[in-house]
Amino acid sequence: MKIFIDTANLEQIKKLQDLGILDGVTTNPTLMYKEGISGLDNIYKHYKNICEIVDGDVSAEIISTNYKEMIKEGEKLSDLHPQIVLKIPIIKEGIKAIRYFSDRGIKTNCTLIFSSSQAILAAKAGASYISPFIGRLDDISFSGISLIKEIKNIYDNFSFETEILAASIRHQIHIIECAKYGANVITAPFSVIMSLLNHPLTDIGLKIFLKDHKKLNK
Ligand code: E4P
Repeated sequence: MKIFIDTANLEQIKKLQDLGILDGVTTNPTLMYKEGISGLDNIYKHYKNICEIVDGDVSAEIISTNYKEMIKEGEKLSDLHPQIVLKIPIIKEGIKAIRYFSDRGIKTNCTLIFSSSQAILAAKAGASYISPFIGRLDDISFSGISLIKEIKNIYDNFSFETEILAASIRHQIHIIECAKYGANVITAPFSVIMSLLNHPLTDIGLKIFLKDHKKLNK
């Protein structure tokens, strides 16, 4: 399973890249806004900066919702850097745009997926990734993990090559369940990825080992 970080924060991306476990980055307009980035030139520069840090796919979201505009915007974004993956919403115009880019070998990430029917259409259009938002489904009392299981089952039935990129991840259990049910990628905030390290018995065990080691050297 690949691990992507869901952020536009360069420091956090650097830290995970240095840890040696990062496979890619996903961003969205809300995450860009949180970093205080504004103006198209700065937004594009920021995407390039992210690509220079990480060794893997970087999702950059297309804002237009009209097919022709989506194509223009997507071409500009994909010219920025070979690691850019076009993040495109699951709307009618988006499906057409995914087909356009997929026919030209340009990678896409179909975003805002909340149902298996949407996942089927995105795969048929040739999306490289789909992003089911599991936390937002949980928020409205639908099981996000059940959606991952269902999509995985459907994609396996037909050997669709589209990768399931589980998004809107809130905690460790989401990540473990995604791994159990075969999501190809998870994208999560920095704090959630780092929390994978934690276990109280590790802290207690290490403390005892270090204390006993000191005794050995007396
Ligand atoms: C996915 O690519 C989105 O950027 C993200 O995971 C949405 O997460 P949120 O529901 O925490 O905003």
